[in-house]
Amino acid sequence: MPVITEIADLKRLYRRRVPKMFYDYAESGSWSEQTFRENSSDFDKIYLRQRVAIDMAGRSTASQMIGQDVAMPVALAPVGLTGMQHFDGEIKAARAAEKFGVPYTLSTMSICSIEDVASNTSKPFWMQVYTLKDDDYMQRLFDRAKAAKCSAAVITVDLQVMGQRHKDIKNGLSAPPKLTPKSVANMMTKVHWGMGMLSTKRRFFGNIVGHAKGVSDPSSLSTWTAEAFDPSLDWDRIRQFRKMWDGPLIIKGIMDPRDALEACNVGADAIVVSNHGGRQLDGALSSIRALPAIMDAVGDKIEVHLDSGIRSGQDVLKAVAMGAKGTWIGRAYVYGLGAMGQQGVTRALEVIHKELDLSMAMCGRRDVTTLDRDILMIPQGFEGNWQ
Ligand SMILES: Cc1cc2nc3c(=O)[nH]c(=O)nc-3n(C[C@H](O)[C@H](O)[C@H](O)COP(=O)(O)O)c2cc1C
Repeated sequence: MPVITEIADLKRLYRRRVPKMFYDYAESGSWSEQTFRENSSDFDKIYLRQRVAIDMAGRSTASQMIGQDVAMPVALAPVGLTGMQHFDGEIKAARAAEKFGVPYTLSTMSICSIEDVASNTSKPFWMQVYTLKDDDYMQRLFDRAKAAKCSAAVITVDLQVMGQRHKDIKNGLSAPPKLTPKSVANMMTKVHWGMGMLSTKRRFFGNIVGHAKGVSDPSSLSTWTAEAFDPSLDWDRIRQFRKMWDGPLIIKGIMDPRDALEACNVGADAIVVSNHGGRQLDGALSSIRALPAIMDAVGDKIEVHLDSGIRSGQDVLKAVAMGAKGTWIGRAYVYGLGAMGQQGVTRALEVIHKELDLSMAMCGRRDVTTLDRDILMIPQGFEGNWQ
């Protein structure tokens, strides 16, 4: 068992163990990848204020997200094709989250279906919903999520059209992977991954194949997105979805205070400040820089969460101290999953938890729910003074 002390260790193992096509799929941003890079590097610009000789015994990272108890304010973000990073990946990640006591969010673009995950876990998970043109499909998706006892729906609003990731096009990304001399040569070097994939039947988009009509090639992410996603999505349509789902609703992909206000108006319970991990609008601000203006606009009206760029417990600490009630991680747990399956996701959560707990202590705080900006040193102009 390799010694894992930080998320970067899991990333190195992940790179060795998973076919290049799927490593590249996760480890890319759109176009120049500026936003992808800055999502993480902007966290490094915020400093922590060291305090000493303050009682640091009896600490707690327990909190709540949308009224649900969490062991720390971290949820696993929806990640498409997780079941291609490791066989039955969504089930494994959901089980790790359940054991750790944090929420798991299943992507519409998952390999394991809603029913697969529900029947292999014992706690409710959150269901992420992409907004498709097909109303029947949408209604059925919400109904399936209800039947599976999902405890929240997450509508992702930042993918009406898809940002271009050069590597996915060059690699011919698909699920299952198309067998070309190049992809076969690469997969043959990933023995454990290949044996795992051969041992499962779950190799297709489980929420789409057999559920959606009229899509010519559902194995291709870009084809499916272009044909089925609704480029005309607007807030009225989101109101219709609100009517289709009467449980807790989270709107994911907010980067502007005006959109945050719209999300409040449609009756969402929380928003996620997110630029989709730098995979959509390259050139957008990092989400940590976008957070303060959104907190000012809606912080007293709705629960605000944040994702994009989180690679450590210190990043979680900074986001929470800046007002986010919760954070979500994407790649950080995918690295763990690709590296070591369920155990790797657990390890990613443990690493983040330990960093969060100890850093909080060294800032002189004992309770994650009472963190505030006083523990941070944020450079002047961090939020930007834009024209
Ligand atoms: C490989 C990959 C696939 C993703 N698929 C989805 C998805 O299906 N639905 C969604 O709402 N967000 C998706 N996202 C975005 C994540 O939910 C999340 O916003 C992002 O990963 C956060 O950034 P981080 O990876 O830097 O933590 C995906 C992200 C990655 C890296």
